[in-house]
This record gives sequence, C-alpha cells and structure tokens, in this order.
Amino acid sequence: MTDIKDEPVYKTDALIEQDIDAYLEKHQHKTMLRFITCGSVDDGKSTLIGRLLYDSKMIFEDQLADLHADSKKMGTQGQEIDFALLVDGLAAEREQGITIDVAYRFFATEKRKFIVADTPGHEQYTRNMVTGASTADLAVILVDARKGVLVQTRRHSYLAHLVGIKHVVLAVNKMDLIDYDRSTFLDIVQDYREFAEEVGIEAFTAIPISGFKGDNITELSDNTPWYSGPTLMDHLESVELSADEDLGKPFRMAVQWVNRPNLDFRGFSGQISGGTIKPGDPVRIVPSGKTTTVKSIVTFDGELDEAQAGQSVTLVLEDEVDVSRGSVIAAADHPPESADQFEATVVWMADEAMLPGRSYWLKCATQTVSCSLQAPKYKVDVNTLDHLAAKTLDLNSIGVTEMVTDKPLTFLPYRDEQGRLNKTMGGFILIDKITNQTVAAGMIHFALRRSQNVHWQAMDITREARADLKNQTPKVLWFTGLSGSGKSTIANLVEKRLHRMNRHSFLLDGDNVRHGLNKDLGFTDADRIENIRRVGEVARLMTDAGLIVVTAFISPFRAERDMVRAMMEESEFVEVYIDTPLAVAEERDVKGLYKKARAGTLKNFTGIDSPYEAPANPEIRIDTTSMTAEEAADRIVEYVLGW
Ligand code: ADX
Repeated sequence: MTDIKDEPVYKTDALIEQDIDAYLEKHQHKTMLRFITCGSVDDGKSTLIGRLLYDSKMIFEDQLADLHADSKKMGTQGQEIDFALLVDGLAAEREQGITIDVAYRFFATEKRKFIVADTPGHEQYTRNMVTGASTADLAVILVDARKGVLVQTRRHSYLAHLVGIKHVVLAVNKMDLIDYDRSTFLDIVQDYREFAEEVGIEAFTAIPISGFKGDNITELSDNTPWYSGPTLMDHLESVELSADEDLGKPFRMAVQWVNRPNLDFRGFSGQISGGTIKPGDPVRIVPSGKTTTVKSIVTFDGELDEAQAGQSVTLVLEDEVDVSRGSVIAAADHPPESADQFEATVVWMADEAMLPGRSYWLKCATQTVSCSLQAPKYKVDVNTLDHLAAKTLDLNSIGVTEMVTDKPLTFLPYRDEQGRLNKTMGGFILIDKITNQTVAAGMIHFALRRSQNVHWQAMDITREARADLKNQTPKVLWFTGLSGSGKSTIANLVEKRLHRMNRHSFLLDGDNVRHGLNKDLGFTDADRIENIRRVGEVARLMTDAGLIVVTAFISPFRAERDMVRAMMEESEFVEVYIDTPLAVAEERDVKGLYKKARAGTLKNFTGIDSPYEAPANPEIRIDTTSMTAEEAADRIVEYVLGW
C-alpha cells in the first residue's frame, strides 16, 4: 500500500462546480446512513474520518491545499497528510489535542450518503457521545491494535447499545504498527466478543484497518491476505438502515400541528415514525382512544395513495375526532401506551445535578409535559457496568429512575420486548423550566402498573360548592423569605385578621409541618423540594375544601414555588415575598440558628451555605425594613379584600 502523498490528489465530484442541480439530484435518491465513531484520544478516529472523506472525494480542493499546508505546520505525521486536521475543526481540540464536542461530517459515495458524528472519547463527555449517537444507525468502535480492548471500549459499546445503535463495527486500527498480525487481531476480536455480550450487543463486524495507511478502508489490503470480510466502506454502504426497519412496524404518527386553513379543511400534520398508511386504514387516536379511518393523505405535492415511516404528511380523517398537538394517530389494533408513571434510563447532561422531586419539562415526540423524577434506583458505572447506589445523578452519569408526569404521556418502550427500537416515541429530553436548558436525555422502559390501577373518583360535592358554603374564594397566600425574615409572625397576624372577618383559613407553617407530616425531611435541596411538594399538595386539598390557605416556608427555589403555582387554579396562588436582607435576618437571629450556621455546626443553612432564589415577580412584596409586622399584615389583608 502506498502512502497518501504518492497517490493522485482526488478532487471533489466535478458536478458540484458544473451543475449543482444535477449533483443534488444524483444524491437525492440515495439512502442515508448515520454513524458515529468512538475511540479514545489516540485511537486514530479523526484520521479515519479524514480518510473516509478523502477517499469519497468530498474534500474541496481549497481544503486540500490547506491540509497540505497545515500538515506541514502542525501535523503529527511528518510530511504526510494529517487527516485528523480535516476533522478537528475545533480550535480547542487543536490546542489541547482532544475532541470536545460532536462534529458532524457529510460525505457520499456512489451508493449512499453518510453523516458521521465524531464524538469525543473522554469519560466526562458521555453527554456528547449520547447526543451524537442518538440518531445513528451504526457505531464504529475504534481500538488501537497495539493496546487492544480497553475500559473505554466497554464504555463506548455500552453507550452505543444504550441509545439503540443497531450495528457495531469493531475497527481494529493501526494494524500497520503490529505488522498486520492476524493472531493479535483475532485475540482482540475474542476479547471484544465477551464485552459485547455483557453489554447486550448480539452481533458486530470486526475489520482490521489502518486509517493512516488506508488498509481495508475502501479497498481490501494486500497486507491482510488472511482477512476475507468487507472493507469498512463496503460495510457502511450495505448495512441495513433503521429507517427500513421502521417500515415493518405498526403505523404511528405523533401530531405536530392541526392544519386548519379554512372551515372546510381539517388535517393533522406530523412525521410518520413507524409503518405505512393508506386511505381507508382504521386508526386509533391516543390518548382519547377514539377510532376512525383515514380519508386522505395530503402533502405539499398533492395527495398520496400511501405514505410510510420517515415521511411528513397531513392526514384527513373520516370522523370529527378530538385530535390536538401531542396526540398520536396509530394503527387501530396497535396503539401505543398512555401513562403518567414509568421507569426510564436517564443520562444527566447538566452541570447542576438532578434534583429528585423537581419539576422539569419532558419532551417526547410532539408532547411536552411536566415531570419529576424520584431518586435513582441506581446509577451505572459506565466502565464496569456495576449498579451503584445514588441519591442523584450528576453531569454525565446514567441511572434508572421512576418518573411521574402531570398528564398522561403517550409512548412506546424505547426498546420493546422483541428488541425493536422506538426512538421517536420512547426517547425524551428533560428541560430545566427556569433556564430552558436541556438537562437530560432518557429512554422509557415501561409504564408502572400502579399508575394504571389508580383512577379518579367522581365527587358530588364540588370545590365550588364547598367555597360557596363558606362564602369566599379559595386562595393560597404563599409566604417566602429567609429564615428569620418574619414570615411566621406576619402570616399569623394575617390569619388573625382573616378570622375576625369570618374568613375560613388555615396557616401551614414550616417549623410546625416539619414536626409531623414532614418530620422525615431535612434541609438538603432534595428534601426542601419534597417539603414544598407535599405542602403544595396539602394546600391544594385545602383550596378544594374552600379554604384560604396561608403558608410560611422559606421555599428557597423558584422552580418549586412555580410548581405549586401551576398546581392551583388560575390566579389562586398569591406569592408574598417577605423581603428581609440577609444581614438584617442574621442580626435578629431570633432562634440563634445563623450563629450556629456561621460557626459551621449547622449545615445547609439558607443564605449561608444553601441558596435563596428571590421571587422575580411576586404579587406582594413586603419590605420588612420599612414597615412593621402589623403594617405588613394590613397591606396583605387589603389585597385580600380586593378579591
Ligand atoms: S424550606 O427551605 O424547606 O422551605 P422550611 O420553611 O420548611 O424550609 O423550614 C425552615 C425552618 O427550619 C427555619 O425557619 C429554621 O427554623 C429551621 N431550620 C433548621 N435548619 C435549617 C437550615 N439548615 N436551613 C434553613 N432553615 C433551617
């Protein structure tokens, strides 16, 4: 095999310059394979991708010129072309010699189009690998022939399998550096087979390669006469795509939007994630469970006789049924499940650790619901696959947890009993409600039976009837502020005034509730969240009973105060911010707790070593430095009288 510098310089497909339309047309009807490459820093990933791009002629001439110049300047391969430089566009990687984010590359051959995600090998970058892998059909797991199967090989394989990559290629790279030794190759394959089984990978294709020299990449190499399998490129060009597998599934489409341009037309638009559909086919709407048939399939280019997985269409149904964004239109005899409690694997991707009990947005297919997670059942050590006890999940950790949503979610298991994958309807992301950042990705296992056996009971006496009898509008006056800010004192005065005015009220106070209902809770973030969740539920029951509820809890986190607000009826929740500066509360130190906290004998104390997030837009703000508790109570009652 000759070195690259001796080969003729390939050019980009000439069509790109001559006739871009013809070029696009030529590639349009080819299938597309998405794959990822996983390897450690020196396994030669970037070199391999650069080689694939180069050999498939997708490198532009000016890029090539740059490459020659760059290779001389900063390459690690002497005078030869350093393919890694092609891929590592990221300045940071060039400086540090590691890949730190997912880089996507596009290339095409005569047979197929490809998108390759180059994902970093470092342990702390699980997040990036999962991001790159979630849409991939195939993973190329790179192993350095001199080093064999390593801990990170297991990690990459586990992650690839976890996110549901069907096809695994074990690329034993740098064969040139071990003189193309067959027995070393076979030993590595045997080692890997054990790994793969443990991880759940049933089959893989092992190929001895040299990304640097080009062995078995696009042409079978004379250096490995003992190898009779496909070249890497052959394999990439012929492997079965998951899109083909989706065609054999029952029909399902999550509704993206209701298309209603005028009164005569009502269609439901979305992308088909499984199966095929024809006019006349019976369908079931989930969650409503109603059945009807498809009247027509409309697209931008006219009506279709049939549509299949992967296509975006608008379905017109025979009957007027209740369908909205987030509904799923499915084959009548194979509807997906709907449940509000399920078990899932969660990959945590945010710097701030998961907070059990906190409410996050969950996005699954076209649905967005509120959701909270319980403390993990366990987390997975991605290097040993051991299950470890965990109270939370931090950046890049993976765990199994039970989740609860506020509304039923329509889903399919990410991996069903037959091992088939349902990435669209079984995968989800979690979003922080305040920062709007994606904090996790997850895969649903199954619905929890307990949620399916509990139903709402109808009650004849309504909340309105209860409130009418008391002749008042139920409300929640939610006091928040630092310890010692004056919440309890002012809340107590407010309740006394309400009582005198014949209002039916109840005061829930932090210190008191923590002697009973919440005596199992301490002051970690997770416990405070659970404290507020329970108090929110109790307050909600009390408003159902027709009461005016006054609460006095530090309730330090905006997210949980917002969660309680969302649990109540419109404008029922009144946030009262008792605004006392830390210095003032500390100066008063009525219970002597600030002194203990400063001395270090009381941990996690709000304002000292635990945060307090002041309300951004409270309905009422009380500045305790400029008014007495009596004046504050008057202000709040005045607000109450305005109802
Ligand atoms: S919250 O943060 O979960 O809303 P909550 O209002 O129930 O707190 O309880 C706060 C009261 O518990 C404080 O007023 C104080 O008397 C007491 N307390 C004991 N330890 C702590 C602590 N570490 N941080 C804050 N308050 C504490």
